[in-house]
Amino acid sequence: MENSVNIDLKFVNKIYRYIKNDMPVETFMAKFNVNQSELNGIIELCKVYGKDVSLEKKDGTMVFQKEAAKSSQNIKPSINDKKLNHNEICVVSDTHFGSIHNQVHLLNEVYQEAYNRGIKTVLHVGDLTDGTYPERKENPRQQFLHGFDEQVGYVVDMYPKIDGMTTYYILGSHDETSYKNGQATANFWVDKCRNDMVYLGQDTGTFNLDGVKIVLDHPGGGSAQSISYKPQKRIEIMETKNKPKILLIGHYHKSYAFNYRNVQCIEVPCLCDKTQFQQKQGLLNVMGAYFLDIYSDSFGNIEYFEPEEVLFSQNDVWDEVGKDKKKVKQLVISNGKY
Ligand SMILES: [Fe+2]
Ligand SMILES: [Fe+2]
Repeated sequence: MENSVNIDLKFVNKIYRYIKNDMPVETFMAKFNVNQSELNGIIELCKVYGKDVSLEKKDGTMVFQKEAAKSSQNIKPSINDKKLNHNEICVVSDTHFGSIHNQVHLLNEVYQEAYNRGIKTVLHVGDLTDGTYPERKENPRQQFLHGFDEQVGYVVDMYPKIDGMTTYYILGSHDETSYKNGQATANFWVDKCRNDMVYLGQDTGTFNLDGVKIVLDHPGGGSAQSISYKPQKRIEIMETKNKPKILLIGHYHKSYAFNYRNVQCIEVPCLCDKTQFQQKQGLLNVMGAYFLDIYSDSFGNIEYFEPEEVLFSQNDVWDEVGKDKKKVKQLVISNGKY
């Protein structure tokens, strides 16, 4: 039975996903069939769970404002500003296909939401597969799929497939084990087998979004005590002229958005449950994804950037061993049909 905290968190996440900056309050009230005092209660509940939503009057209409990551580009341009490129993309990471902790149904949920928003581009920041670690004796028991063939086959067969949507991805530390064990590059073969999945490179890759330079980065090694310490260090060593506008970091299974040296940096959460290792070490495992709303000029400079964090709670996890494998289906949307 779901406890009330989980029910509230699920509700808050759903509400927060729906609300957009400058959305008229009346639109929301009609959609959820709530009155003014119920709306005030919902805003208070959002605050309790760290989602800051406020109301303000714009051109005589009461609209929502969501708290965005602070940046120098915090004045939203007019949607009709033809001089700017406007893109909304989705960012995911660390799906670890083949692990008993993988949660394909949560990945499907994110892709369904991306489809509902009309998003065409998804970036995946590595660790598509769980890989194989022969030196870790517990490894076989932590997986329901073993080795290159089974894990890559599962990505090819199960990764969401939606008409018009392309996933660009890099190779992460777990994917790399296939290469170390037998010189097979998991991510390269996924690209060969799927027209809608494009491999950008090992450890790091660059994606050009209407001239906006986005770097995907999958470091190795463990986490630091401070959530922003390692990403800041990575940005510090970047040469000014080679810096990306947006840096996406996978691997840490954490969620954090900040601006440093004029780089919009996102630590992208994972889409798999906590492993035995994380449990033993007391390490945080944050599950979720980001939707990025980006306005840029013709030189690839960002004029406005709004990262929207979507988080899943422990209650969203299917933790019965193999349940995800047994019950989940591939999300396929073709010509608007499921
Ligand atoms: Fe990972
Ligand atoms: Fe990793």
